Amino acid sequence: MIDLRSDTVTKPTAGMLHAMMAADVGDDVYGEDPTVNELERRTAAWFGMEAGVFVPSGTMANQIAVRLHCQPQDEILLESTSHIYLWEAGGVAALSGVTCRTLDGRFGQLAETDFIGKVRPDDMHSVRTRLVCLENTHNRGGGTVYTLEMVQAISRWARRYGLQMHLDGARIWNAIVKTGVPPHRWGEWFDTVAVCFSKGLGAPVGSMLLGSKALMDRARRLRKLLGGAMRQVGYLAAACQYALDHHVHRLAEDHAHAQLLAQAVLDVPGLSLMTPEVETNLIWVEVSPTLGTAAEVARRLQAEGILVAPLEEQVIRMATHLDVSRQQCEQAAAAIRRLARPV
Ligand SMILES: Cc1ncc(COP(=O)(O)O)c(C=O)c1O
Repeated sequence: MIDLRSDTVTKPTAGMLHAMMAADVGDDVYGEDPTVNELERRTAAWFGMEAGVFVPSGTMANQIAVRLHCQPQDEILLESTSHIYLWEAGGVAALSGVTCRTLDGRFGQLAETDFIGKVRPDDMHSVRTRLVCLENTHNRGGGTVYTLEMVQAISRWARRYGLQMHLDGARIWNAIVKTGVPPHRWGEWFDTVAVCFSKGLGAPVGSMLLGSKALMDRARRLRKLLGGAMRQVGYLAAACQYALDHHVHRLAEDHAHAQLLAQAVLDVPGLSLMTPEVETNLIWVEVSPTLGTAAEVARRLQAEGILVAPLEEQVIRMATHLDVSRQQCEQAAAAIRRLARPV
């Protein structure tokens, strides 16, 4: 099967498994795992942050960030299709007691002007506007990339109002490779950054929250509260180290492969891209009812050995990643083009 459902489906490569087996480990709850300590130090340095906390998932990194910045009766400003709002099981309400004020963006992206007038008045009837969350690249937006200038403008606006800035950077690596803007230049505009090693970078598990030393000390306590403190977790951190060493620059290949799939989509009447252009490794496709439902189209592709994700009634997502080669993407593109034939 050629599995294009997500970039999270990758399995560790032989080199990564070797690095995992050779890892020097200790009890990370005691702060004694040298591989985790090195990964935290290194990733924080990349993003120009003082410290990092290794966590099991991107969801946990985001949820800890929200809890760090907010308390009950606070409000977050975020785009209406953000992962934090749509796909984290209502965690911000359940774990932090905050409300979300969603703003409709364009392909997941907000401009500074979208925020104007969105700070609540200082009044006992209102929630307190506290935090802005951005997502880069934006998953539901279609893998779209914020430019640094857009981020700077929003961050300057937020700071003017004393708001905190959090980046859901599950796929920030794709944005870094696409734009050539290095990690520390993104980091300087945020108070906290969440990154994932388990998406395009191909590690089996692992995410990290980055920020100031004071914030990360508090994040460690929250990680414990959520049950995310792990013991000899250097075996996983070694996979993430390997991913940083070997799998960042190659994301450009995934972006090129995504273009092959996007081109095939454009060739099929009844399929359309949901973004003006495919910028990174995610391809969101709208299926016209003339072709059937997304689930029906996914079943036709599955019969040809291609797995895609029918995420909404008429919407399919495909993702390119480490475990699909150019030749497999060409094969998938041919299968997509065959959808134009009557069943
Ligand atoms: C943009 C974004 N943020 C956060 C997450 C959550 O990551 P995890 O699945 O590791 O909890 C995902 C997962 O796909 C994501 O796409």
